[in-house]
Amino acid sequence: MAVLVTGGAGYIGSHTVRRLREAGIDTVVLDTLERGRPEAVLGAPLVVGSIADEALVTEVCRDHAVSTVIHFAAHKSVGDSMVDPGPYWANNVQGTVHLIEGMLAADVSRIVFSSSAAVYGSPEQVPITEQAPIRPENVYAETKAMMERVIHWYGVTNELRWASLRYFNAAGASADGVIGEDWSSTTNLVPLVMRAALTDAGPVDVFGTDFDTPDGSGVRDYIHVEDLAEAHLAALRHLETGGENLTVNLGTGTGTSVLEILAMTAEVHGAEVPHRLVERRIGDPATVYADSTHAATALGWSATRNLRDIISSAYAWHRQG
Ligand code: WQD
Repeated sequence: MAVLVTGGAGYIGSHTVRRLREAGIDTVVLDTLERGRPEAVLGAPLVVGSIADEALVTEVCRDHAVSTVIHFAAHKSVGDSMVDPGPYWANNVQGTVHLIEGMLAADVSRIVFSSSAAVYGSPEQVPITEQAPIRPENVYAETKAMMERVIHWYGVTNELRWASLRYFNAAGASADGVIGEDWSSTTNLVPLVMRAALTDAGPVDVFGTDFDTPDGSGVRDYIHVEDLAEAHLAALRHLETGGENLTVNLGTGTGTSVLEILAMTAEVHGAEVPHRLVERRIGDPATVYADSTHAATALGWSATRNLRDIISSAYAWHRQG
């Protein structure tokens, strides 16, 4: 059993590649290195190329006797997707079609898909279950919802077997500080808080303190990247042992506010984190967190790392510079 990991040189991909290899699973990475870093795959076989290259996908699957694909490769900036949507439709959606065609040509018919809680948009109620309405509010989120549907229909027309994993807010770094998130072009809260604490880049903006939440700041479900890696291993084993197609939320089931993230970071850092209280960011819902009971029953998985693990691992990683 070998696994092809697309986007395996990226943030969640590299943590998953490391976990698979620790479990003794042969792994090969396909990544364009547009965003990913070659050193992040820690010596795993790396093919530099695109999921859109069907012949390359087929060749890699055959050369490495791949049995399952874990598909991370995608553009993932919400803001960019609304400014320049073309590459998101082409790379994320059409790229997934090419990937699947390439896989099927090599008789690989199992895929674990990196989806996102963004497919829910602003939830009507929390915690969010997998039955909540799919209402993407930006092009990025729409591409994730469309990729889920493409995979579903290949399940109907070509018996592709799949697991779609809807991540909530991935954060943190490997506990030993060997791999972590690249903060160079992120817009996500945790790396920006670390940058404000650890560099002279200036204060981090708190987008709104007038939400209907306990402290007025936005609430999200922050899940440790190593817990996400564990979930991918569980989903892989689920499919490899004949498990049914499934869609699961990957979150902790707990909401944490922006100000709580700042407070925990200040505790770890030993000093206040420079920040400014500013207006809300357009499109941000007040509260988003998962009902993750389905992942527990269907995969036997639940998050084991807490907020302190997330903040302290992110801090230690970014402190390395
Ligand atoms: C988290 C909270 C902000 C930055 C997005 C994508 C989602 C997923 C995760 C890929 C919110 C607040 C943020 C800042 C702030 N990505 N914030 N100051 O928006 O929950 O989700 O990333 O799948 O698809 O939509 O994550 O980290 O941007 O924001 O106050 O500088 O932090 O308002 O409450 P978000 P985020």
